[in-house]
Amino acid sequence: MFNTDTVARFNDLETPFYYYDLNLLKQTLQACYDASSKYNFHVHYAMKANFDPKVLAAIQSFGFGADSVSGNEVKAAIDNGFGAGKVVFAGVGKSDKEINYALDADIFCFNVESVQELGVINDLAKAKGKTAKVAIRINPNVDAHTHKFITTGLDENKFGVDIWQLPSVIEALRATTNIEFLGIHFHIGSQITDMEVFKTLCVKVNELDQWFNDQGFAINVLNVGGGLGVDYYRPDINAIPDFEAYFKIFAENLTVKEGQEVHFELGRALVAQCSSLISRVLFVKNGQHKNFLILDAGMTDLIRPMLYQAYHQIDNISSDHGPSNMDHGQKVMIKYDVVGPICESTDRFREDVLLPESVRGDIVAVRTAGAYGAVMISNYNLRDRVPSVYSVE
Ligand code: LLP
Repeated sequence: MFNTDTVARFNDLETPFYYYDLNLLKQTLQACYDASSKYNFHVHYAMKANFDPKVLAAIQSFGFGADSVSGNEVKAAIDNGFGAGKVVFAGVGKSDKEINYALDADIFCFNVESVQELGVINDLAKAKGKTAKVAIRINPNVDAHTHKFITTGLDENKFGVDIWQLPSVIEALRATTNIEFLGIHFHIGSQITDMEVFKTLCVKVNELDQWFNDQGFAINVLNVGGGLGVDYYRPDINAIPDFEAYFKIFAENLTVKEGQEVHFELGRALVAQCSSLISRVLFVKNGQHKNFLILDAGMTDLIRPMLYQAYHQIDNISSDHGPSNMDHGQKVMIKYDVVGPICESTDRFREDVLLPESVRGDIVAVRTAGAYGAVMISNYNLRDRVPSVYSVE
């Protein structure tokens, strides 16, 4: 959690801000590195989860590659030290400008999401006299058992190509002149906590690998995407995801042929726990039926609770909140609706949060906010952009 020195430091700072525990980040990266390198697995960090420069520097220093979903993410990966040869580029709507940029940068691989896109990449590569390396993103129709807004591997969603379309992919691959086919790509969803789902994915990957082989297309890269979930309910107990168990599933269930590489695209699991959104209580409103804790941070700073009904642990970490609130060794606990300052009723982090009785000026931490937090900031209501604060190393 936060020690007294850290809370004292927060007291002197303007809020809100994202606080990064760089030590925890490094421990997490080390755990991922150790568990993945045991099997020679390649990990690409999904840039979209967090592109704070210090976070990227730490991730890059472990030798991971980068998974990007826009031309700007490709650029940010390269600018932040990820070698272009370790950058992959997914995305259902890549513009010509973005494709051209990635071709010029000589990235490792385009994760292609439709037959039409394959043709466009081929044409743009041809115009430059280049060969584009590609993997085909396939929808394996595996239910990720996660929130419907972050499920991506079922038929009839916009991502990738469905299995019934694969014969036309083969036909298109045969017709292209400036494409080097590397392999197949999957990403079935995010915040996956049911590990059985990954076993089901492995079965599909094995079948499809064989199918491509039978069509005369050897596969060098099996990219199984990301999706490993984190424990939003117990961030202090499970600060580091169980990478050992995760990679073991793939090691045991994927049939990896001689010369094939297995690639992953982890985002959330690497960065979620290392950051909290730190904010101050502006006002406490006691109503007849409800008590509101009004923070200086809101949905513009962390939208996950409002967009996905996502749970984030909320702690009142104020240091000056000690003995005065103790009653025979017991804190006075009160249920609050923890809300932000934005002019929307949905601007609520959570209802009925049991917290020690809180006062104006108390510091509140919204935990496990490192993934898909700061990157989804908006300036609705003309809000200032929330800055980053880092642990002192
Ligand atoms: N690869 C692809 C192609 C992806 O689309 C994603 C995430 C990842 C990898 C990384 O997935 P991860 O390991 O982080 O689960 N904003 C939502 C999550 C959206 C995920 C989008 N794709 C949230 O806050 O829960």
